[in-house]
Amino acid sequence: MTKTLIIVGCQWGDEGKGKIVDLLTPQVKAVVRFQGGHNAGHTLVIQGKKTILRLIPSGILHAGVECLIGNGVVISPEALLKEMNELEEKGIPASQRLRISASCPLILASHIALDEARESDSKNAIGTTKRGIGPAYEDKVARRGLRMSDFFNPKQLAEKLKILLDYHNFLLQHYYKIPTIDYDQTLAALLEMAKKLTPLITDIPALLAKYQQEKKPLLFEGAQGTFLDIDQGTYPFVTSSNTIAGAAATGSGLGIRHFDAVLGISKAYSTRVGNGVFPTELLDEDGQTLRDRGHEYGSVTKRPRRCGWLDSVLLRRAVQLNSISSLCLTKLDVLDEMETIKICTAYQLDGKQLNDLPLNPEDLARCVPIYEEHSGWKTSTTPIKEFSKLPANAQKYLRRIEELTGVPISIISTGADREETIVLNKIF
Ligand code: GDP
Ligand code: IMO
Ligand code: MG
Repeated sequence: MTKTLIIVGCQWGDEGKGKIVDLLTPQVKAVVRFQGGHNAGHTLVIQGKKTILRLIPSGILHAGVECLIGNGVVISPEALLKEMNELEEKGIPASQRLRISASCPLILASHIALDEARESDSKNAIGTTKRGIGPAYEDKVARRGLRMSDFFNPKQLAEKLKILLDYHNFLLQHYYKIPTIDYDQTLAALLEMAKKLTPLITDIPALLAKYQQEKKPLLFEGAQGTFLDIDQGTYPFVTSSNTIAGAAATGSGLGIRHFDAVLGISKAYSTRVGNGVFPTELLDEDGQTLRDRGHEYGSVTKRPRRCGWLDSVLLRRAVQLNSISSLCLTKLDVLDEMETIKICTAYQLDGKQLNDLPLNPEDLARCVPIYEEHSGWKTSTTPIKEFSKLPANAQKYLRRIEELTGVPISIISTGADREETIVLNKIF
């Protein structure tokens, strides 16, 4: 039986992870974020009411469930407090439900300034969310960053901040030639914010070990997606953390033997926001139809998302990398009006067929998708609650995805609302 489930995105993010985490939350003791930061935008829609979460786990709307932020998450104290306030204004007691690891690296104003400065070079831009994510992870790995635990010791915080900000300001002033960040203001703001956040610091590894021993179900919520992974993704157009399932252990402190299952979330087609290779991208009318019907505009940056057909070569790779036990296909309804739907089953490169990714990642940009065509179903799937009631062509499309990836589909999402979901197999 599944007690510990990891949810990961199988594409380039925005697969609908938040909706599914919220759906499964009533069955668990805690929802845990383990990487990323407020570059994430996870949308929950409950009876038409929308909530977008960035740093806070997508279980926060449920009473009696703890929301834990593991050490792998980079925290902007400002963004976190803003998000907590927004929830509390809506009557959701966020600070009661939220606990944070002492080891989370902090994102400062200077990280955001550095991120923005780098992105201003349009030739080399990654297309980041400009939230300071990359610079904060750089400082973590360089062992000079601040962490949540520094809130316990204001004197030490002040000293560390001085050294870090001197370094950042040197870069901002002399390398990027832009205004620097004020030390006194930054310190004062951090000490003020520490008052509200320090009480939330908890020994997350100990708490998770306890719940694991008590056999309490746990849900680990991935942010971003497999191909934004710093190691396995479409480098350098990736985020700065490991986004794949393996990061759930390192980013939370729960040991690897205690994970039971991985649910991979994929849209029924593909999207990407930001720069980088996208083999099945559609620059034609079909791409625009997907964007319009799927409302494909970023929930964080509002940028239009690039759209394309489902890529089963990449999806198979995601299944391998994450050891996915079952899939959740989202946004099936977006395909409802399509005459024909395509799936990329292999690539053509230099006259040869490739069934897997090319050995040299740079060759992926030259890969031409080989498509198989499926007839559309031309009817709304949104009200449907059972797999057997889906139109025959939709069933065929879904069964074909299972065949191409070698894993079963356990959840199908046919609309943004929590209710617009078909659950085929019990998850917990
Ligand atoms: P996440 O980052 O993986 O949590 O996904 P986002 O929230 O960034 O993006 C998914 C978008 O699709 C959000 O606007 C959701 O409300 C919406 N959504 C999720 N599932 C479905 C679905 O099955 N159908 C439709 N039409 N929209 C969906
Ligand atoms: P969720 O959790 C989609 C993308 C950015 C950019 C790249 C690097 O909502 O799925 P970063 O700011 O992380 O340094 O940007 O990663 N990106 C996302 N794309 N969904 C996300 O999160 C993303 N988080 C980062 O667009 O291409
Ligand atoms: Mg998102």
